[in-house]
Amino acid sequence: MSPQLIVYIRQLWNTREQSRLLKGKELAILPSIENAYLFITDGKIAGYGPMSDLESGKGMQEGLSISSSSPDLQTIDATGQFVLPAWCDSHTHLVFAGSREGEFVDKIRGLSYAGINARGGGILHSAQKLNDMEEEDLFDQAWNRLQELTRLGTGAIEIKSGYGLCVEGELKMLRVIRKLKQRSPLSIKATFLGAHTYPLAHRQVHQGYIDSLVREMLPVIAEERLADYIDVFCEKGFFSAAETETICLAGIRHGLKPKLHVNQLNSIGGIQAGIRLNALSLDHLETLTGEEIGLLGRHSSGSEMVCTLLPTAAFFLRMPFQPARDLIDAGCAVALASDYNPGSSPSGNMNLVIAMSCIGMKMLPEEAINAATLNGSYAMGLGSETGSITVGKRANLIFTKPVPSLAYLPYAFGSNLIDKVMIGGEIVSGQQ
Ligand code: NIG
Ligand code: FE
Repeated sequence: MSPQLIVYIRQLWNTREQSRLLKGKELAILPSIENAYLFITDGKIAGYGPMSDLESGKGMQEGLSISSSSPDLQTIDATGQFVLPAWCDSHTHLVFAGSREGEFVDKIRGLSYAGINARGGGILHSAQKLNDMEEEDLFDQAWNRLQELTRLGTGAIEIKSGYGLCVEGELKMLRVIRKLKQRSPLSIKATFLGAHTYPLAHRQVHQGYIDSLVREMLPVIAEERLADYIDVFCEKGFFSAAETETICLAGIRHGLKPKLHVNQLNSIGGIQAGIRLNALSLDHLETLTGEEIGLLGRHSSGSEMVCTLLPTAAFFLRMPFQPARDLIDAGCAVALASDYNPGSSPSGNMNLVIAMSCIGMKMLPEEAINAATLNGSYAMGLGSETGSITVGKRANLIFTKPVPSLAYLPYAFGSNLIDKVMIGGEIVSGQQ
């Protein structure tokens, strides 16, 4: 791949000599360089700085020598454009079979999300469709969604299983994710969420399904290296905190760190279980007591745990937004993700997620962008690979259309403000 030099970038955002997880007040600081250049070799960031350094020959000696000597150097003019790290969406259910807009209308008519699940709809409805669908068709649908998200600026993504709910179905989903990993230039992580809900046959007596998760699914998943993480939907009517711990401990024995759905609808001990399990991230957090916020803050100060907030899921289910301000004030490392799924967030648009976090959760634009890039990368174990403009990281970049300021991005929430997207040094969307 020929080296690339991006020049005259109006403002280059999230530039960091060293990258690390951002906690509390640190989230509000989004470093940037005005009138900047960015130099890329082998799809990775090799150097960056103010144009004046490039012009005077100061700064990036290595880059300069290559730029003057390499005949195949490609120059990209980014006059008038902002360049940011591509979005890191650390919580999605991107692989699913078909949509559930019928239930969307049922909810308009008065049914609740929990009520739809209780009557055998919701996740079970998606499981039925997924188990009826051929693996190739499931892959094609997921692939098309991933293409759309790439155009919307997503450069790294975590994808969960959880609509199989049986050995064959869960393995089918994880194989589809593996194929996405192989075919897509995006950085992708896979999470095993066999414990998404109990299949109908196990609604009353849970042990049979827990045995299947632990004894049948996990060993194959570990053997075939089909997952990077384990997840459980810890919720009233789904998996209790004790069941969550049992399942996660089995996952940990197979090398899978937990990333958990907790406190979406009820507070049932998921936070405490997640902390005991040393989870990489605790996700959702719509329903939090003051005590739990304090607990998350205290745990965050001595750990790398991420609190992942999913504002489009709260919005779609007409729930109060997650208390981002309280979590940031408590010192937590907040990340933002889309939760893309057919039941509670049928959108994986991270631009919308960012806007909604500013509008509904009162996050500052700088906090939201840090949460959707750098902290999102750490929430899926990709902190050294992506999420900031740092030498050695992948050149996963968003080029914006001309906008008056950074705050304009979440402010003009209905507009597509992305001009082009680069993944690993390749322009994957927009004009070269
Ligand atoms: O994160 N809450 C659990 N799982 C998904 C929704 C799944 C579905 O409704 O299909 C979520 O919101
Ligand atoms: Fe989810």
